[in-house]
Amino acid sequence: MQPPSLHPPPSKLGITLDQHIRNQMAMSPGATGHFTSLLYQIALAAKLVDSQVRKAGLANVLGYTGETNVQGEEVQKLDEMANETFLTVMRRGGRVCAIASEELESAVIVEGNGRYAVTMDPLDGSSNIDVNISIGTIFGIYRRKSDPTEPANDADLLQPGRDLRAAGYIIYGSSTMLVYSTGGKSGVHGFTLDPTIGEFFLSHENIRVPAHGSTYSVNEGNTSRWNESTRRWAEWVKADDKESGRPYGARYVGTLVADAHRTLLKGGIFAYPADRKSPQGKLRLMYEANPFAFLFEAAGGRACDGRRRILDIEPQSLHQRTPLVIGSPDDVSDFERFAVEEAGA
Ligand code: AHG
Ligand code: MN
Ligand code: MN
Repeated sequence: MQPPSLHPPPSKLGITLDQHIRNQMAMSPGATGHFTSLLYQIALAAKLVDSQVRKAGLANVLGYTGETNVQGEEVQKLDEMANETFLTVMRRGGRVCAIASEELESAVIVEGNGRYAVTMDPLDGSSNIDVNISIGTIFGIYRRKSDPTEPANDADLLQPGRDLRAAGYIIYGSSTMLVYSTGGKSGVHGFTLDPTIGEFFLSHENIRVPAHGSTYSVNEGNTSRWNESTRRWAEWVKADDKESGRPYGARYVGTLVADAHRTLLKGGIFAYPADRKSPQGKLRLMYEANPFAFLFEAAGGRACDGRRRILDIEPQSLHQRTPLVIGSPDDVSDFERFAVEEAGA
């Protein structure tokens, strides 16, 4: 019998988010603490939003404001509150130079010499707010490109996803979690909020997306608007084939954060393809697709628009849309196979 090891693997499970961020900083030579402080600010804003979400049914924050946002969608009170909260915390924090939000037509340019540009969907899954289904926040962090002695501009934000320095999301679900990555080898880590003390603790260390899964996630109500390859793919995932584990089970929440979170942990595929109504897809490149593409790749998964790698798309505008397919590498490749066959490549 082996004696117990004197040096068990150094699991960090249970450490606080603050400690984790400090550890990461200690591993990056030359780090100045600016990035660390920005992550603290995001975690603080997440806790403030969480506290509003948790009492949403009581605090007169349900329902619509009566306004529409730049996408022509009805703005809900929680959307506005989440947007204001993240903006206020980051503006005061002094580490960002520009912020692009789903809720604002133009970028917010922040005075000062902040070194980072942030893209965000402050409240994702708006249609699920009033029915007590998981909602979320998505963020991406880029390094500033403009001269810090000049005002920042849109070019600081309009960078391809492969240049993200970090990305993450918060899911306000049966529990509240913050998941983030600084990319590549640093891994993807998930922290669960203990609401009784207001602290995030590491609960999901080094998340790896399985090579393939057993569920597919797509709004099948759009079938009549899909192109032929998407229809053929959807038939294929539902066909009986024991060897490849088909048929897959269907899972669709209608909150990207929730559908992507499940797919990240359990594997499988999430797709919001282009269709006749949304020829460019529905989801937004800068604050929905890119952050998730970054996280899935860092966790060993894949992200494409059907043909191209999401992270290689050169953005043209803050609110541009893109088809999005994310998930287990094998499952995303299967989707691509159908798209490529149709293109006759
Ligand atoms: P948002 O609430 O930020 O506008 O995003 C809604 C998005 C996304 O969360 C979800 O994946 C998708 O809309 C669902 O769209 P359908 O209702 O068309 O399926
Ligand atoms: Mn969204
Ligand atoms: Mn939103």
